[in-house]
Amino acid sequence: MKKILVTGGTGYIGSHTVVELQNAGYEVLIIDNLSNSNVEVLDGIEKITGIRPAFYELDLNDKAGVQAVLEANPGIKGIIHFAASKAVGESVHKPLLYYRNNLVTLINLLELMPEHGIDGIVFSSSCTVYGQPDILPVTEDAPIKPAMSPYGNTKQINEEIIRDCIHANMPIKSIILRYFNPIGAHPSTEIGELPNGVPQNLVPFVTQTAIGMRKELSVFGDDYDTPDGSCIRDYINVVDLAKAHVIAMDRMLENKSAEKLEIFNLGTGIGVSVLELIRTFEKGTGVKVPYKIVGRREGDIEKVWANPHHANTVLGWTAKESVEDTLVSAWEWQKRLVKRGS
Ligand code: UD1
Repeated sequence: MKKILVTGGTGYIGSHTVVELQNAGYEVLIIDNLSNSNVEVLDGIEKITGIRPAFYELDLNDKAGVQAVLEANPGIKGIIHFAASKAVGESVHKPLLYYRNNLVTLINLLELMPEHGIDGIVFSSSCTVYGQPDILPVTEDAPIKPAMSPYGNTKQINEEIIRDCIHANMPIKSIILRYFNPIGAHPSTEIGELPNGVPQNLVPFVTQTAIGMRKELSVFGDDYDTPDGSCIRDYINVVDLAKAHVIAMDRMLENKSAEKLEIFNLGTGIGVSVLELIRTFEKGTGVKVPYKIVGRREGDIEKVWANPHHANTVLGWTAKESVEDTLVSAWEWQKRLVKRGS
C-alpha cells in the first residue's frame, strides 16, 4: 500500500481528499496544526472509509518535528500539501504570518523530501494566480498577474519555488493544481466546510443565512461588466476536486508523465454569477436566501472561469457534479452542523 503524507488533511479540501485517497487504497498520514480545523474531522473520515488516518498535530514550520514524523514513518512516497493560511483579507493585515505559514512550510517539505526518498509533491494552488484574465475561459498558459494580496502572492511564490527546485534538478516531481472555487460537502454529511467565525466565502455564508444564523447575505456589487452585474466564478464540487488529487498522485508515483512539473486548472469550465448561485441554491433546496446588494469587495476579480481541457484530456479527470446538486450537498451539511450543535 502506498503511503502518502497529506498536510492540512483535517481541513476542508484536505479531509475530502483523504477520503478519496483511502478509498483508492492509499495509506494516509496527516500533519495539521488544527489552526483552521478540528480534530473531530478524523471521526468523520473514519465513519466514511472505516479507516482512521494516522494524525500528527504539528506545525509545518517546525522542521525538526516534521523530520521526526518522516523518520517514524519510513516509506512515504508522496506529499499532498494543502496546509496554508487562506483568508485574503487577513493576509493584507498580517503579511508575515502568511509569508511564514505559506512559504517556510513548503521550503521545509522540499528540503526534507530528498533525504527521505519522497519524490512527488502535489501542491494546492489557486486560480488567484491569473488575477483578472484577459481571455476567458482561462488556460494554464495565461500570464500570471501581479498578486492582489499577500495570500495571492504566496501562491505565486510557492509555484516559483517548486519550479526553481525542479529546474535545479532536485530529485523531485510536482503537480501544481490551480483550484477554482471549491464548494459543497461529502454526500454522507460526515465532513464538509467548517468556517471559523463569520464566513468569508460565499457558499458557507449562503447556507448560514438560509438556516437563519445570519440575517442576510451581502452581494458584493451588481455593477460589474457581467450579464447580471454580479461577479462570476467557477464553482467546483469538493469531492470532484478531491478525486483529481488521487489521479495526480497516481500519475506522479507511476511515472505516467515525462514532465517533472505539470500544472492543471481544476474547474468545471462553467461561469456562474453570485445572483445565479443564489437562485440555484433556492431552486435546489426550496429555501429562500435573503440578500441585499452592497458595494464591491476590495480586491475581487470581476469574472474568472476555467478552461479545464488540459485536466480533462491529460489527467483524464472531469468535474461531474452540477452546481445545483453541490449546493444541495452544502445545505445538507449545514443542517447536519446545526443538528450537531457546531
Ligand atoms: C477568494 C480568493 C481566492 C482564494 C479563496 C480562498 C479573492 C479575489 N479570491 O476567492 O484567491 O483562493 O477566496 O478561500 O479574494 N461574495 C458575496 N458575498 C459574500 C461572499 C462572497 O457576494 O458574503 C461574492 C464575491 O464577491 C465573489 C464570490 O462571491 O464574487 C465568491 O467569493 P468567495 O467565496 O470569497 O471566493 P473568491 O473571492 O472567488
